[in-house]
Amino acid sequence: MNFDYLKQEVDYEINKIFSEKQGLNKIIYESMNYSLNMGGKRIRPILFLYTYSLFKENYRDVIPFSCYIEMIHTYSLIHDDLPSMDNDMLRRGNLTNHIKFSEAIALLAGDGLLTEAFKSMLEYSIKNGINALYASFIIAKSVDCDGMIGGQVVDIITKGRELDEETLNYINKNKTASLIKACVLAAAYMGDASDDEINKLSRYGYYIGIVFQIIDDILDKTSDTSTLGKTANSDEKNNKFTYVDLYGIEECKKICEDLNNKALNILNSLDRDVTNLVEFTKFMLNRKF
Ligand code: IPE
Ligand code: IPE
Ligand code: MG
Ligand code: MG
Ligand code: MG
Repeated sequence: MNFDYLKQEVDYEINKIFSEKQGLNKIIYESMNYSLNMGGKRIRPILFLYTYSLFKENYRDVIPFSCYIEMIHTYSLIHDDLPSMDNDMLRRGNLTNHIKFSEAIALLAGDGLLTEAFKSMLEYSIKNGINALYASFIIAKSVDCDGMIGGQVVDIITKGRELDEETLNYINKNKTASLIKACVLAAAYMGDASDDEINKLSRYGYYIGIVFQIIDDILDKTSDTSTLGKTANSDEKNNKFTYVDLYGIEECKKICEDLNNKALNILNSLDRDVTNLVEFTKFMLNRKF
């Protein structure tokens, strides 16, 4: 199961979600479809599917669930880009949702993706049982007000201030690592992992989630708009103080390498075939966009 192949399978499934919709409210589907299908690395669904595949062979059966996670992530991006948040014009190589459709529709598209995702997770759980319900709860908890929303709140209310490590850790842990870790944990529960495996994977998910945000902050300052598909230097424009401002680029790279090694060690301590997840974990560190 190579990454590109899995990405194609996920893209195909995501494309189908709202494709048949018609009606007076059609614009909400167009708007959600626009942001869902205009690109995106699909890190979260692929992480979910690789983790599930440590335990079970029928990964295709859980592709829909992985797409619901991507819907939640996409909602967070649409709202993150709004004028009252990061005020960004580019996302996934295209105009942001509010520029393309208006601010009101972008707000509703975010609301729509979030609501449709949890509705679909509930429906999936009704059909597939308690493990799926528990996995849905893990995802919900990761994006609640002590999770992703909490991280976004602190990110926004501290704008323009120099931040200490504790505050930055709160932001990174919650706005980004929380959902990434939940992808791993939800898949582990759906795959009937043992308590020991759950504990190990919980730490693994946290480490790669933190790495993901620090690399995002490094790339914001070191890469360019066309490579990123979103406006470079957005953090400086918004007076956002990140890990890179606290420690500098070289030190941040070292922090990421250390955390990534810890993550790899955990994978290697599992008595499972971790080949795909090891590759994925290395990609999380070395990614260029
Ligand atoms: C961007 O996430 C937002 C962060 C949490 C840093 P991604 O880098 O996964 O964005 P897409 O999905 O590939 O567009
Ligand atoms: C966004 O962090 C995190 C969420 C969307 C929850 P950023 O604001 O750094 O993400 P980008 O750089 O705009 O993708
Ligand atoms: Mg932001
Ligand atoms: Mg942003
Ligand atoms: Mg960023």
